[in-house]
Amino acid sequence: MAKAKTRFVCQECGYETPKWMGKCPSCNQWNTLVEEVVVKSNPKHTGIGQGSSQSPEKITSVQTKEESRMLTAMPEFNRVMGGGIVPGSLVLIGGDPGIGKSTLLLQISNQLAQKDISVLYISGEESTRQTKLRADRLGVTSEQLYVLSETNLQLISNQIDQLAPAFIVIDSIQTIFKDEVTSAPGSVAQVRECTSELMRIAKTKHVPIFIVGHVTKEGAIAGPRMLEHMVDAVLYFEGERHHTFRILRGVKNRFGSTNEMGIFEMKERGLQEVLNPSEIFLEERTQGVAGSTVVASMEGTRPVLVEIQSLISPTSFGQARRMATGIDHNRVPLLMAVLEKRVGLLMQNQDAYVKVAGGVKLDEPAIDLAVAVSIASSFKDQACSPHDVLIGEVGLTGEIRRVSRIEQRVQEAAKLGFKRAIIPSRNLDGWQAPKGIEVIGVDAIQNALKITFNQ
Ligand code: TYD
Ligand code: MG
Repeated sequence: MAKAKTRFVCQECGYETPKWMGKCPSCNQWNTLVEEVVVKSNPKHTGIGQGSSQSPEKITSVQTKEESRMLTAMPEFNRVMGGGIVPGSLVLIGGDPGIGKSTLLLQISNQLAQKDISVLYISGEESTRQTKLRADRLGVTSEQLYVLSETNLQLISNQIDQLAPAFIVIDSIQTIFKDEVTSAPGSVAQVRECTSELMRIAKTKHVPIFIVGHVTKEGAIAGPRMLEHMVDAVLYFEGERHHTFRILRGVKNRFGSTNEMGIFEMKERGLQEVLNPSEIFLEERTQGVAGSTVVASMEGTRPVLVEIQSLISPTSFGQARRMATGIDHNRVPLLMAVLEKRVGLLMQNQDAYVKVAGGVKLDEPAIDLAVAVSIASSFKDQACSPHDVLIGEVGLTGEIRRVSRIEQRVQEAAKLGFKRAIIPSRNLDGWQAPKGIEVIGVDAIQNALKITFNQ
């Protein structure tokens, strides 16, 4: 018999080498290489297009049919998935422990099962009795929902063959193992082998599989980054443990747009959708105070209104501080420099703190104008009108640049009762402003400040 081949795999990044090394040359971590037996993968199992013809086809003659997506009873979830769950897809849900991943997936399983879709919920972390306790709390009563407490992938696969469910949940990938792989569950090798096996099951049986992945301290899905490359879609479930709001964010989706965001609230009896996020984000706003502005930002395909707050105060000693929460911290000194040079607001000896209220993260240039005006407002100690919404990117010469999807943004502002929208003048043409909101175009930061402060 031939000697079993081994290799050394970095447990941090998945780097492979035939020889042991103290330090991983790829991620520079020490002592992360672990010896593993090479598993000869069955060549039959590697392809996705099994059973299809092996010869090349003309793209025009490839048969497609409109994928009918599975819909849950939660439109927020469907939207994050790109309009429903695609059969045969492998989806990863990552998030901190205790954030509500199991709760979300059990609720979704129940909703699908109520539509007569047979669901198999496999938990490697909880016994079926524990899952049942959670289910009772959530009011899960479906006859079509099967639960299984198992961690051996071979046995799981057998059960899937027998039951032939139409929707599968694996909670979590870090607890599942394959016999042939010698390393411990949760190691890079186990996670990789188990995921590719699950991928094969999803594609050949044409069932969607959701896998839960825990998140490490650094914020990446535990184990390897490569897990994200292997699956069809990656969702992150985030939120502050002390707040009840949870955000489901799509970071990768082979079957829909990314950057979609769904907002939920953790209640006594499970997760509930928040259908009007703008109202929630603006709920605690004090109107008419200096340093506060409102921006209409796009989160994926949906506009949300968010409050931006700034506090500018004299530096007591040493270097001035620049702090930002919820926006790129480099934008703050940049916008302050523009305000100094183009408008003449001297803020060198001022500390600046900028914050997006409500714990959301915004990363698009269209929020520049609202941030700049909020900084100016706090510096001048002069409040802006609480009925204004500001949209626009600020260039280095102080010009206000065009942004995308202006119509949707202004519509959302009008819906929530805002009276004026201050937008880039290049965005004025080609659309109709909704009733009840005055739209004002500005081309430079100076003009924007004049209008907001009525000068
Ligand atoms: P859980 O789904 O177990 O988190 P994860 O699978 O991501 O580790 O969520 C557990 C938390 O949610 C726990 O702190 C209790 C809370 N919770 C509620 O507030 N309401 C509920 O109805 C349920 C089921 C859980
Ligand atoms: Mg869990």
